[in-house]
Amino acid sequence: MPVDASEALLCWYAVDKRRLPWRAEGGARPDPYRVWLSEIMLQQTTVATVRPYFERFTTRWPTVAALAAAEEGEVMAAWAGLGYYARARNLLACARLVAAEHGGRFPDDEASLRSLPGIGVYSAAAIAAIAFGRRAVPVDGNVERVLSRLYAVKEPLPAARSKIRALADAMIPDPGAGDFAQAMMDLGSAICTPRSPDCGRCPLRAWCAAFAEGDPEGYPIKAPKAARPHRTGTAYWLEHDGKVLLVRRPARGLLGGMLGLPEIEPAAIAWQEAGAVDHVFTHFALTMRLLCAEIEGQPEGRHGETWSPVDRLGDAGLPTLFAKLAARGLAWREKGKAPAPVRQGTIA
Ligand code: ADE
Repeated sequence: MPVDASEALLCWYAVDKRRLPWRAEGGARPDPYRVWLSEIMLQQTTVATVRPYFERFTTRWPTVAALAAAEEGEVMAAWAGLGYYARARNLLACARLVAAEHGGRFPDDEASLRSLPGIGVYSAAAIAAIAFGRRAVPVDGNVERVLSRLYAVKEPLPAARSKIRALADAMIPDPGAGDFAQAMMDLGSAICTPRSPDCGRCPLRAWCAAFAEGDPEGYPIKAPKAARPHRTGTAYWLEHDGKVLLVRRPARGLLGGMLGLPEIEPAAIAWQEAGAVDHVFTHFALTMRLLCAEIEGQPEGRHGETWSPVDRLGDAGLPTLFAKLAARGLAWREKGKAPAPVRQGTIA
């Protein structure tokens, strides 16, 4: 009989672990290059998606030195489909740094790993534990769920994060940190799932406080989401000679650097109401009214402004909010717009 939850988890993992191409078999230490590559690929991407990419990469570039010598274009092409392309650029930068400055060997502690391109807190802990047996636990949403249930953590997330991290840390077996980290991942993905956890098969059931309380699904407790504030605004659809005025937005701020419709009245003319659209951003909801007009005189272009052919707006790369507003602008012109009388001056 296992004496504690960590030992029970390791016994379960020894028998039931997922066979994954980056995992070593028979108690061998896995190759740090393969561990690092898998952890970078697994950031924001599922195991099922990563598998074939991992096989292709390691066949083509079996060592960090081989990858470091690759052309960026080849690596980007091999990465195509995995998404988040900054990861691929960082992957190559990291491989080149390890080859050039670390003699082709990955550093074996969390802090040094974290200083390399593309390796964040989670990946550094995972690589340090799995590849080097260091006392570290990568804590993600899965691990937070397992631990908040195991200890029936009453503080809501995200405030409970540091407590959960400390609970995880106290459970790390020595030796066995790498297997423990991966066992937590497997348990969270196969058994201790967000909905309908399979407690009947769980190796930690005897120690699980949430199971004893009879409501494992009630954990983790989440802080109620703050209501999203609601904002309103106005955008302008100004047409001239089959073209509509677009502005490049400032690099910083909402939709920074993207093209959009002007939000400052671009001409002192009589505008026609063309309804409003609703759009939800992460931190607020927005209702934006659209005012439309067509002018006849040749307007003077200002910095950051472009006149885009109305029939090619689909190619302009407008973000969703402005694509919705543009659809309203197009509906307005379909209905038969009337040229706007000049109110005072032409372009403001
Ligand atoms: N997710 C992140 N790292 C992982 C790993 N090493 N095995 C399975 N899933 C993971």
